[in-house]
Amino acid sequence: MSDQPGMDGLRLEELPMADDRGLGYAVLRDAGPVVRLEDGGFMVTTREGADYVFKNPEIFSSKEAFDTLGSPVPLLPIAFDPPDHTRYRRMLQPFFTPRTATELEESAREQVNRLIDGVIERGSCDVVADLCKPFPAEVFLTLFDLPLEDRDRLLAWKDVIIKLAVLAGASEPAPEAMQSAMQLFEYAGAHVAACRAGKGNGVLTRLFAATEDDPLTDEEALGLTFSFILAGLDSATNSLSTMFGRLAADPALRRQLVEDPSLIPDAVEEMLRIDPANATIPRVATRDVELHGQLIPKGSAVGIGIGAANRDAAELADPDAVDFRRRYNHLTFGGGPHRCVGVHLARVELRVVLEEWHRRIPEYELAPGTRLQVTWPSGSIGFDSVPLVFSPSID
Ligand code: HEM
Repeated sequence: MSDQPGMDGLRLEELPMADDRGLGYAVLRDAGPVVRLEDGGFMVTTREGADYVFKNPEIFSSKEAFDTLGSPVPLLPIAFDPPDHTRYRRMLQPFFTPRTATELEESAREQVNRLIDGVIERGSCDVVADLCKPFPAEVFLTLFDLPLEDRDRLLAWKDVIIKLAVLAGASEPAPEAMQSAMQLFEYAGAHVAACRAGKGNGVLTRLFAATEDDPLTDEEALGLTFSFILAGLDSATNSLSTMFGRLAADPALRRQLVEDPSLIPDAVEEMLRIDPANATIPRVATRDVELHGQLIPKGSAVGIGIGAANRDAAELADPDAVDFRRRYNHLTFGGGPHRCVGVHLARVELRVVLEEWHRRIPEYELAPGTRLQVTWPSGSIGFDSVPLVFSPSID
């Protein structure tokens, strides 16, 4: 492909992302601060531009931006603009503080260790299937006070919904896919009803109790539950998958964490910066607007190129290098009013996995012959599988 967008605009699907996202982001940044795309949309590639879009929701709306997910219930808070969005965030905020995240740390650590128990004696595993996928699902179930036994069916249903989202508008979903989607709706609907009746001690039950004077409808509560499934699971799974991929392929980086585990929180941030789970975040322009000299017409789809913006050379030195001692306020959790509500919990999840894994399995590498590639284009970027080999241990 040509590195420069021609008259017809850049084709996102042609970005060379599969082996090294750095290459793809470089093509994007080289194409300009606001890139015109072949499908008529635009992509913002600078940190300054990304901040501007995130912080001006009245110009860059989330309202129609997530329609491609084809959700039959309103996805709140992610697909709302202020003032509705402000109301939802005010309701959610008390349940997603650094303190509430720390309260989940103990159970999260137990869950990670149980999953590591399942592989440690084997001497090999697919860390995505065995840890990166099940773990965030277990944290979600704990947060919502749902049984951990539901983990695998939740993951199966979620995969179907994501697949439906990718196919949205392209073709009729297969009947079995629709059936799985309905099963997830029934499951989530039953949970909403139980929480409304005051059962359990999950986030939804507590949210209903705390907002009696301004209650969420059942449809809103269902949409909220869906947003958490769609926003929380794959981002954490994919982030963990690229972290393991990177650390397994680079023994010097891995050893830094083994020798000094206090580096792990900063290492997590640096790996989130260099390989964000979401390369782009969608918005829709509510009016004609000029950004970095480019006219963006009303109604245009505008992608916030987080991946490119996180490596903006105007902001940080040697942006393609991974440096665990770098302190940079990256955009991987977004910015402005929609900044990830699960950020504190996500950080606990990622830190606890890296701490426990490196404490128990400090020496590991990619299984021979492994070539790690991400699927692109994709709403959420990660490796489907990261096969690892290590010395079997009984601790
Ligand atoms: C590494 C893991 C994660 C990453 C990289 C991530 C990233 C993001 C980003 C970029 C946004 C902003 C979307 C936008 O501006 O339109 C977002 C929003 C959101 N995230 Fe996360 N997230 C992660 C984990 C989680 C977890 C664990 C949860 C749930 C506990 C969660 C729940 C949400 C929700 C509900 C929103 C919507 C917030 C709003 O619209 O106000 N995320 N996330």
